[in-house]
Amino acid sequence: MIRSTLLFLALAIASAHAQTSPVFGQCGVCADGSACVFQNPFYSQCVPGAATTTAPPTTTVGSTTTVKSSSSTSSAPTSTASVPAQTGFVKTSGTKFTLNGAPYTLFGSNAYWLPLMGYSTTDINKAFADIVASGATTVRTWGFNEVTSANGVYFHLWNGKTATVNTGANGLGALDTVIAAAKAHGIRLIIALTNNWSDYGGMDVYAAQLLGSGQPHDVFYTNPTIIAAFKSYVQTVVTRYANEPTILAWELANEPSAASSTCNTTTISTWASTISTFIKSLDSNHLVTLGDEGFFNRPGSNNFDFVYQGTLGIDFEANIKITTLDFATFHTNSDLDTQMYPQSWSETGNPNSDAWGVQWITDHATVMKAANKPAILEEFGLTGTRNTTYADWYSAVLSTGITGDLIWQAGSQLTNGPTPDDGYMIFPTDPVYTLMQAHAKALKARG
Ligand SMILES: *[C@@H]1O[C@H](CO)[C@@H](O)[C@H](O)[C@H]1NC(C)=O
Ligand SMILES: *[C@@H]1O[C@H](CO)[C@@H](O)[C@H](O)[C@H]1NC(C)=O
Ligand SMILES: *[C@@H]1O[C@H](CO)[C@@H](O)[C@H](O)[C@H]1NC(C)=O
Repeated sequence: MIRSTLLFLALAIASAHAQTSPVFGQCGVCADGSACVFQNPFYSQCVPGAATTTAPPTTTVGSTTTVKSSSSTSSAPTSTASVPAQTGFVKTSGTKFTLNGAPYTLFGSNAYWLPLMGYSTTDINKAFADIVASGATTVRTWGFNEVTSANGVYFHLWNGKTATVNTGANGLGALDTVIAAAKAHGIRLIIALTNNWSDYGGMDVYAAQLLGSGQPHDVFYTNPTIIAAFKSYVQTVVTRYANEPTILAWELANEPSAASSTCNTTTISTWASTISTFIKSLDSNHLVTLGDEGFFNRPGSNNFDFVYQGTLGIDFEANIKITTLDFATFHTNSDLDTQMYPQSWSETGNPNSDAWGVQWITDHATVMKAANKPAILEEFGLTGTRNTTYADWYSAVLSTGITGDLIWQAGSQLTNGPTPDDGYMIFPTDPVYTLMQAHAKALKARG
């Protein structure tokens, strides 16, 4: 049934275009001046000026859902005139992003949940439609899910010390669907490859499986067996999508940081350099970023505010200089005093989270300009009434020159109810959604 659907599509396209695929059409014989670029087993495109790429070995996909959705979304852009074609890879130029030589405005939302909830393609498309209507160009999501038993959607299944990548419909097939939907909506994706936190497995699963339970968190950054296992997972994901322009960047981890003083800023900088060099060796198309919260290593500064002391294993000024990292990230707010979520950071003596955030943005802009690389406010969040504070933070991004920003996080009403709300979600009915639309315009106008 799957194969006959694909065959039917292929035949329909082939006959409609007399054996020659149009520019941006599914590949058969490409029109003059374009070449077939393979994206994944379910879509390829005739891209102007591209060198023909050979298809990597295809993987078996176990269910009809992904295949149908991928084939239908890949054909969607041909009938939707307003959707920009996804050609070219996002690059950097000084402190800016570019796409095909024009400025690229990085604005949008986090939506970690997109590939992980088992949502239908219809629901994923609804979520992207809401995100696009906020003015977004960019979405950040999770490209990891470490598990020790096979349930629901999972990407990396551990059995003792052996891990297997799930390339089926409830594995990377779910990420394929998200990528196809992003592409159909003209959105680019930042995809994180593991988590500092235990949500969706993360670093501690590697340590527990490979070295035994009770390992310190920080062995993830230094143990050669763990580094080899992580590289193996990274290689599978990165090579699967190496030619996919919908991906804006690979992100080494969500919020890598130290859990003890045996892990210092050099430890994580060295790890970041090793893994980013490895990714660049596999994939020269995509940007690479660390995904950290942007902590500073300035002991004694800022009234001993802990996010400036270097004790969390992150040195923003050192990491932005790593040549295999193309841009820097920082976050602001949180549950555990660690992201730019100053409701919690107020414990450190900053009762005014609004002004604190403006200073945090300003301090990162100073380092960004000195390094002449882009830096993005990659997460920020408050619960409750927040549109005044967010307006001030958006203004600070605009005025300081910070390259772009992603809110934590997008929310939508889907077939079976709302997306999983952690208190930070911005549904289209939230006053912040209107603010986002205005900010998107202002950021695009600023360039
Ligand atoms: C990273 O995860 C470890 C282990 O869960 C935790 O101890 C540490 O606080 C996290 N890092 C930050 C900055 O929150
Ligand atoms: C960081 O830790 C490593 C290994 O434990 C050590 O060799 C190095 O001197 C430390 N660096 C700093 C700046 O503390
Ligand atoms: C915040 O939202 C309220 C309620 O919708 C609105 O009256 C106010 O103008 C908004 N303020 C900003 C700065 O967006």
